[in-house]
Amino acid sequence: MRALIALLPGDGIGPEVIDEGARLLRAVAERSRHEFQLEKGAIGGTAIDATGTPLPDSTLALCRRADAVLLGAVGGPKWAPSAPVRPEQGLLALRKELGLFANLRPVTVHPRVASASPVKAELLADVDFVVVRELTGGIYFGEKTRTADSASDLCSYTADEVRRVVRVAARLAQKRRRRLTSVDKANVLETSRLWRDVTSQVVQDEFPDLQLEHVLVDSCAMLLVQRPSRFDVVVTENMFGDILTDEAAVLAGSIGLLPSASLGDGQKGVYEPIHGSAPDIAGKGIANPYGTLLSVAMLLRHSLGLAEEARAVERAVHVAIEQGVLTPDLSQKGATTREATDAVLTALQQER
Ligand code: NAD
Ligand code: IPM
Ligand code: MN
Repeated sequence: MRALIALLPGDGIGPEVIDEGARLLRAVAERSRHEFQLEKGAIGGTAIDATGTPLPDSTLALCRRADAVLLGAVGGPKWAPSAPVRPEQGLLALRKELGLFANLRPVTVHPRVASASPVKAELLADVDFVVVRELTGGIYFGEKTRTADSASDLCSYTADEVRRVVRVAARLAQKRRRRLTSVDKANVLETSRLWRDVTSQVVQDEFPDLQLEHVLVDSCAMLLVQRPSRFDVVVTENMFGDILTDEAAVLAGSIGLLPSASLGDGQKGVYEPIHGSAPDIAGKGIANPYGTLLSVAMLLRHSLGLAEEARAVERAVHVAIEQGVLTPDLSQKGATTREATDAVLTALQQER
């Protein structure tokens, strides 16, 4: 098949992990005789420095033309949170412009690195869940006001916004263990009461085969470390999903391992590791590339319909971890970003 894939490296370790993602995409193309055209676009702080805006029109146009987008990370200390234009606005605008309302963040624990998690190994066996995070609504996108001594961020949701993301999560749960956990703060927030009502209705009307539970977000934060294997599919609003998935990354041993897919109504998606630009290790060549490489697998599966290739990539990453080829976030010896990717590419060649 032919596909146009936009590469948006961004800031910090973003370009380092995207270089590796590009190598993997080229290897997959060669292995399966696909033609992937890879085209780079600027986003985030580096785009601000070059053009004055974190999402230049040319980048958005590229992403609209592309079949899929692979993104590194945006942000960093160079671009202060108080500045009028910030790198993170580019990422938020991209998600909004492309209508990517559902962010899938799978969480699994590889036994080889379970000891890297502060959570007891016995609690990590059988951890396998997906957080479906609402991505284009809520407090991230509500009206913001600021005076010298007051500020407000509005959190609002419509029933339609809740319904469509719950459907994505419910369809996913049907293909898995049929357990859906909806996370909210319905004891305090009006948006959460709407969220809970709509979720119950959608599941009752359209997915009666699912086992649905509602969990309050504070309790969910506790259960994630206390009994993580109880979760199958978790659906939640934008900010809760952001926070809970960084917490969930602790189960996996490093945030550098977790991939994500941001999806809308069509096939197109933005794929990115869930970590940020990691300014503390940027430029050293030691960023963990596996979250990005697993995001490539999600890209192959969801946007290009290449399920076999996606599985081969996932198996190759698994083999590399099994062999102990681990960057310093997971191992004292510490492979480089490039060595870790090399191990995946070698394992991929042996997959047939
Ligand atoms: P971060 O995820 O960048 O880093 C947190 C910690 O995890 C750091 O110690 C870092 O070294 C480590 N880490 C992250 N990714 C790693 C990897 N691949 N390999 C090894 N270690 C890794 O979070 P932060 O420090 O809170 O944020 C830094 C900047 O990134 C901020 O400007 C933030 O806005 C931005 N950010 C961007 C995204 C994104 O682009 N999707 C996501 C989160 C944060
Ligand atoms: C993420 C990040 C972003 C978010 C930031 C950089 C805007 O934390 O992708 O998890 O909050 O969505
Ligand atoms: Mn985040």
